[in-house]
Amino acid sequence: MDSNIYAENILDHYSNPRNYGQPSSFDTMQREFNPLCGDEIKIFINLENDIIKDINFTGNGCAISQASASILTEHIKNKNINEVKSYGKEQVLGLLGIDIGPVRLKCALLSLKAIKQAIQKLEDEQ
Ligand code: FES
Repeated sequence: MDSNIYAENILDHYSNPRNYGQPSSFDTMQREFNPLCGDEIKIFINLENDIIKDINFTGNGCAISQASASILTEHIKNKNINEVKSYGKEQVLGLLGIDIGPVRLKCALLSLKAIKQAIQKLEDEQ
């Protein structure tokens, strides 16, 4: 895909976010916010064994933060939490497919941070 197609994909996810909305029940959740702008993401996860059976988010913020939550939740659904725990900025930037400057990096990684914290909470409880 060329960068225009990636940019269109980001706008599409921003306008029509996948996995958006708070589910009636969940195993773990985490809220993260970007202190630079006050934008936020809440992640809700339902697990079956170690597989992410359902993942949803709510939030408000810039196109990059909201689109990356949509793209990331779609990507990691049905994946093992151990695989997701190994994700870093390379995976998120690879999914977004556009160049992100240092300021926007916080936007792009907000949802991954929330997902990892939500998984960590579960592990702390065990
Ligand atoms: Fe707030 Fe991007 S400007 S998360």
